[in-house]
Amino acid sequence: MENLISLVNKLQRACTALGDHGEGSTLPTLWDSLPAIAVVGGQSSGKSSVLESIVGKDFLPRGSGKLLPNSSGIVTRRPLVLQLHKIDEGREYAEFLHLPRKRLTDFAAVRKEIADETDRETGRSKQISSVPIHLSIYSPNVVNLTMIDLPGLTKVAVEGQPDSIVQDIENMVRSYIEKPNCIILAISPANQDLATSDAIKISREVDPKGKLLQLCPSGERTFGVLTKIDLMDKGTDAVDILEGKSYRLQFPWIGVVNRSQADINKSVDMIAARRREREYFTNSLDYKHLAHRMGSEHLGKMLSKHLETVIKSRIPGIQSLINKSIAELEAELSRLGKPIAADAGGKLYMIMEICRIFDQIYKEHLDGIRPGGDKI
Ligand code: GDP
Ligand code: NA
Ligand code: MG
Repeated sequence: MENLISLVNKLQRACTALGDHGEGSTLPTLWDSLPAIAVVGGQSSGKSSVLESIVGKDFLPRGSGKLLPNSSGIVTRRPLVLQLHKIDEGREYAEFLHLPRKRLTDFAAVRKEIADETDRETGRSKQISSVPIHLSIYSPNVVNLTMIDLPGLTKVAVEGQPDSIVQDIENMVRSYIEKPNCIILAISPANQDLATSDAIKISREVDPKGKLLQLCPSGERTFGVLTKIDLMDKGTDAVDILEGKSYRLQFPWIGVVNRSQADINKSVDMIAARRREREYFTNSLDYKHLAHRMGSEHLGKMLSKHLETVIKSRIPGIQSLINKSIAELEAELSRLGKPIAADAGGKLYMIMEICRIFDQIYKEHLDGIRPGGDKI
């Protein structure tokens, strides 16, 4: 099954290399059929923190944005498509699609490149762009996942931003999460009223269906994540939310305790932060009974498991799309005549190869996905 997830990762990269990220162009329907997890929520709700703790690495530009030159007050101004690849051994490294074969082992450099590449696309006047940055992280300490970090939803433009930015961000976020293949990680801070959560509001719009309408009013593909539990007012707790009594989703809510700004300033590392998060839940009288399904580590495992289930259910659909794509690509190749431009030819060749590998693996696993089979 690990193989299938990393194969889907490769397909997504190939689609992007071909200029297709779900908005028309070469293979629009292929990207649309591949599952991915998008992180949505209001500004400062803890999106970057959640992503980083799933990865177990500091690598995202973060904070108020005021420390960055050319700051618009929004740190994330382009979608970041983040692919996590589990490797058996060796040193972890990162690779950008726009910097092929350049292995970065310094995650501070990764953070800087995300910021620089954002500026290259958006320039100084254009505030946000829906063109994604593609980053792969290879590490023994991750699960195979594809995640998309999106700009934070906001209610008002800050100084220097056009008023349209509020709507522009919302439209961009919606364009990603309205796709049925998108698994939504809806981030809400526990120290704000859930009724005002941007994440819940937008995910409810695009994902209104639940299996049992009355019990599960929302969320076939929405995972509710509650951050900042440690910052709640004394005398209040999040038990009702975490038990699904306040706002019921099909999947159980997951509470997390990320690093505070003070922790970040003190460079508290991820391992220490995770341990402390675990201790927070197990030692708390309020949350002890929920501790086994709380925290970033549990969140990562659960997402990976869910992704497997989704991919498994999509294999036949992806398969037929790929067959169609291969036919289209072959037609295009013969129309272009050979020899074709090295660049275009290389890209077409790459995706065809990936399609063929997928085809092969699919056939190998075919028995496993038939009813009654559990080989995958
Ligand atoms: P984003 O704008 O949604 O990406 O939010 P960030 O992940 O950048 O977090 C915004 C701020 O909230 C940072 O200073 C984080 O350290 C802090 N923060 C995020 N989650 C938590 C949490 O669970 N507990 C505490 N104490 N602080 C948090
Ligand atoms: Na946020
Ligand atoms: Mg952020």
